[in-house]
Amino acid sequence: MKRTVAALATLTAGLLTLGSAQKVTTPTIGIALAQTGNVALLGQEQVIGAKFAEKHFNARGGINGTPFKLAFQDAGGDENGAINAFQNLINKDKVVGIVGPTLSQQAFAADPIAQRAKVPVLGPSNTAKGIPQIGDFIARVSAPIAVVAPNAVKQALKLDPKIKKVAVLYAQNDAFSVSETGTFQETAKAQGLNVVTVQKFQTTDTDFTTQVTAVLNSKADLVIISGLAADGGNLVKQLRQRNYKGLIIGGNGLNTSNMFPVCQKFCDGVIVAQAYSPAQKSAVNQTFVKEYRAQYKKDPPQFAAQAYAGVQVMVEALRVLDRKKKLAQWDLGELRTALNKQILAGKYNTPLGLISFDKDGEVQQKEFYVAQIRMKDAKNGSFVYLK
Ligand code: ALA
Repeated sequence: MKRTVAALATLTAGLLTLGSAQKVTTPTIGIALAQTGNVALLGQEQVIGAKFAEKHFNARGGINGTPFKLAFQDAGGDENGAINAFQNLINKDKVVGIVGPTLSQQAFAADPIAQRAKVPVLGPSNTAKGIPQIGDFIARVSAPIAVVAPNAVKQALKLDPKIKKVAVLYAQNDAFSVSETGTFQETAKAQGLNVVTVQKFQTTDTDFTTQVTAVLNSKADLVIISGLAADGGNLVKQLRQRNYKGLIIGGNGLNTSNMFPVCQKFCDGVIVAQAYSPAQKSAVNQTFVKEYRAQYKKDPPQFAAQAYAGVQVMVEALRVLDRKKKLAQWDLGELRTALNKQILAGKYNTPLGLISFDKDGEVQQKEFYVAQIRMKDAKNGSFVYLK
C-alpha cells in the first residue's frame, strides 16, 4: 500500500513537471547581470539595486503576502555569458521573468532565447536602439540613448559656449557604443558643431596612443566618448596625461564611480547624462536613497536605480496577477505570458519617476539629468548634478 502511494506520488510529480503544468511555488525573478569581469564595473551597481528592491518589497508583503525570490546568474561581459545565464534562469531556476542583461551587445544575443521561451525580459541598462523591437516579450526600463545622450551635449555647450570642434570616439565592438556615437554625432551636428575626427577603439583596449594623438592633432575643444567603464576610464586618463584641456563627455558606459580607480584624478570634469537623480521626489526613491546612503555613505547611482526599477515593475505586475488568481495556482508558462502583458499595461512609480511602456516595450519616462564628475582626490569623487 505504502509503495503504491509513493509510486503514485512520483507519477503525479512527474506529470506536473511535464509541459507547462509546472506550478509557481515561490515566485522567482531572474537576474542576469555582469557580476565578474570588466563589465561588472556596471553590473555590481545593478546587483546592489536589485537586492535593495528585493528587501524593500519583501519587507512590504512581497506579492500580496507571499515573499518573492531573486535568482542570480552571472552573465559576465559577453554574449555567451548572457546566453548561459538566461538558459539557466529559464530552465533551471524556472523564473517568471528576467531583469538583464547588462550590455545591449549581450541583449541582442540573449533576449531572443527568452523571446522563444515566452519569458518576459526587462532590460535594466540596455540603451542601444532596437532593444524592445527584439520581440514582444522584451521591454526595458533604461531610456534609449537617443533620448538621454543629447542632454550631455547641450549641457557642455552651456558650460562652454565657445566649443566649435568635436572629436568623437567609440568602441566599435560594442553595440551600445556604436548606437550611442550615432546619436552623439547627430546631436553635435544639429547643435552647429564641427565633428573634426571620429576615432574607433575596442572595449578590450588599454593603450589609446593613436586615438589621443588624432584628438590632439584635430584641435578639438570637446571630446565625446562612447565606450565602457574600463576602456573609457583609460581613454579619459590618457587624454589628460597628454594635456588635452577641453571638456569631455562620457556616454552611458562611463556612468559609474567604479571608473574612478581607472582615471583617478583625471576623471574630474567628465560630463555624463543621467536617466536618474537621487533628488527624484517619489516616496519609493526617497526611501531607496535613505537606505542606500545608510549602507554605502553615498547616493545611489543610475545603474542601481534602474535595476531597482526593473525588479519593482515585475513585483507590481505580479501583485496585480496574484489578485486575479493566487500565483501558486498558475502554471508557469501561463504566468510568464500574463506577466509580460501586465508589465506593459501598468504604470509604476519608481526611483526613476513615473514610468510606463509603449506597445513595443519602450520605457516612457519624463525626467532626465546631466552630472559632472568631481574628484576630491585620486580615489574619491562624486557625480554632481548640473542645473
Ligand atoms: N547602456 C549600456 C548598454 O546598453 C550599458 O550596453
